[in-house]
Amino acid sequence: MNPHSDMKIVDSWGKNASQWTAAVREGQIESRKLVTDKAIVDAVMSHSPESVVDIGCGEGWLVRELASRGVRAVGVDAIPALIDHAKAAGGGDFLVMPYEAISHELVEAQFDVAVCNFSLLGKEVVESLFVAVPSLLKPGGVFIVQTLHPVVMNGNSPYVDGWRGGSWAGFSEEFVDPAPWYFRTVESWRTLFFDSGFALREIHEPVNPKTGKPASIIFVGESEI
Ligand SMILES: C[S@@+](CC[C@H](N)C(=O)[O-])C[C@H]1O[C@@H](n2cnc3c(N)ncnc32)[C@H](O)[C@@H]1O
Repeated sequence: MNPHSDMKIVDSWGKNASQWTAAVREGQIESRKLVTDKAIVDAVMSHSPESVVDIGCGEGWLVRELASRGVRAVGVDAIPALIDHAKAAGGGDFLVMPYEAISHELVEAQFDVAVCNFSLLGKEVVESLFVAVPSLLKPGGVFIVQTLHPVVMNGNSPYVDGWRGGSWAGFSEEFVDPAPWYFRTVESWRTLFFDSGFALREIHEPVNPKTGKPASIIFVGESEI
């Protein structure tokens, strides 16, 4: 298997489903507790949605959080073990579905908001997902993406798009075989929205109070299709 590929990303997440579930549920990821969980919930709730699809939902924390605020949410993810954990905890409907299979027909509903919280890691499947998302949205619906901040995460690498090796630095030793990810510059994220028929309505850069640096970047696109 190509170590820098969309297929390898799903393969790696399949090996880390229980470790990831524990990390999220035990609050092991400091930046999430300090900044990014609240940032994505606020970004979604600011659109007062009745319905949300959480794409790459993992073990389902965001669906549960939105359900506690009266929002009907559906989570989808490629990894059956993560969806099993999500279903066991409840809070919404959960479907096993790789991004390449997502379409209006498959999800059988339209939503006020589609959200991806740190779940857009690959290249071609992410590009095809952007093309599919408008069909999941009601008129006026928005697509909200939280991702690693390209400037902060770039380290000493050239600031150009490309595959990067994965790392579980900062996570427990139980994690194995880190997933690669496809780095995009801020301009490339903007182009991805634009080329898929979205107008980019908002960009947020939530700051980690401990480091003083952006913990993430959040894009909010409105479909114009
Ligand atoms: C960093 S986790 C984030 C999970 C969740 N959104 C959260 O906030 O905890 C990335 C998620 O993306 C999912 N994912 C990655 N590539 C995928 C693909 N091609 N199809 C479906 N899910 C995918 C993984 O299975 C994993 O659950």
